[in-house]
Amino acid sequence: MKKELKIEYRQLKHWNELPDTDQVLVKKANSVMLNAYAPYSDFKVGAAVLLANNTIVTGSNQENIAYPSGMCAERVALFYAGANFPNQKVETLCIVAKGDLISREDLLSPCGGCRQVMAETESRQGEPYRVILVCQNDEVIIFNSALDLLPLAFGS
Ligand code: THU
Repeated sequence: MKKELKIEYRQLKHWNELPDTDQVLVKKANSVMLNAYAPYSDFKVGAAVLLANNTIVTGSNQENIAYPSGMCAERVALFYAGANFPNQKVETLCIVAKGDLISREDLLSPCGGCRQVMAETESRQGEPYRVILVCQNDEVIIFNSALDLLPLAFGS
């Protein structure tokens, strides 16, 4: 039997078309991105997570000379949220990045490891949360559920 998976997302030309509350997340993600430690890839990533109690937690990628020991921005932020606000549901995750590793027009797309963590954050809290991806040319892609980014996820 042939089946199809459908993924819905919205696209905006510029993140300044987002509602004010989301623009705050973009700005927070952009400012924490400056704290990225990325001497090996020269690719800086910032993530901002809005929790149900209106707290915003942020993270940036932190690399290491032993490459696998580094950590992506999304996971730094989500793990910080889990460690410090274990009972607060994630409402929105916003991601920004800067660097030549991908071109300005390319979609800023979370890596597979981050998608797995994003998916489990959602299945664990039993409620979908929005994911806002801001490309380097300021275009935005918005998903209404993190699981949309990892169809047929292990453990979901
Ligand atoms: N990176 C992130 O922080 N998030 C992603 O979703 C993709 C990649 C980081 C990891 C590494 O420090 C650098 O970007 C280059 O891959």
